[in-house]
Amino acid sequence: MRNMKSLPTKTILAFNGSPVKESSTDLITREILSGAAEEGFESEHIHLNDLDILPCQSCGESPGGKLCFFEDDLFPHLHKFADCDIAVVSSPVYFDTVSAQTKLMVDRCNCFKPLTGYETGDFRFADLNLKPRLGIIVLVGGEREKFEHALAVVKGFFIWTGVRLFDQIIYAHGEYTKGAVKDNQELLQKAREIGRKAARSAIPK
Ligand SMILES: Cc1cc2nc3c(=O)[nH]c(=O)nc-3n(C[C@H](O)[C@H](O)[C@H](O)COP(=O)(O)O)c2cc1C
Repeated sequence: MRNMKSLPTKTILAFNGSPVKESSTDLITREILSGAAEEGFESEHIHLNDLDILPCQSCGESPGGKLCFFEDDLFPHLHKFADCDIAVVSSPVYFDTVSAQTKLMVDRCNCFKPLTGYETGDFRFADLNLKPRLGIIVLVGGEREKFEHALAVVKGFFIWTGVRLFDQIIYAHGEYTKGAVKDNQELLQKAREIGRKAARSAIPK
């Protein structure tokens, strides 16, 4: 009989920095997760606003085998982020950048390259050789269509944490109703397709 040992389930993890449930940010993120789930991925949608998150304290030293010294609500998710196959970072644009909820999470990932002292007296940002992961960015803003600062934050975050950018969805609109993207089924379908494609391209463990 053939060895039927099953392969480990692949995972997609979304950090959603919107405080509004069923907002456009939320709905687009759900579609991406659903697309990956159609390809057999396990998904987790983390609403950062629901968590009690300590801002980065710039400790200045490596937390050793952990990804942070502080074991608050975000802490277990940092480890899931290090171990997922696809990471989604979704944020509304607030004052030209990502939301405060998103930025709290971003800063707390500073120890994905921990500052480490060596016998020579040098200090360097160590490479943790984390698993390869694909990244998807979702940004939602108003009609001004100024996304460059928010985009730079999330792209820089992915580089720092060893995530390879797979795709991005930038949605600008002039509506004042919650979840305005519901009227843009084409974009929601695109989001689902990005989830599916990312799942098919996900790098093996
Ligand atoms: C505090 C705050 C600041 C905002 N700043 C900007 C901004 O700088 N640029 C912009 O295009 N939209 C800005 N907006 C509008 C939001 O980006 C817009 O409402 C977007 O749809 C929010 O995403 P959501 O619909 O997923 O909640 C701001 C909204 C809030 C609440």
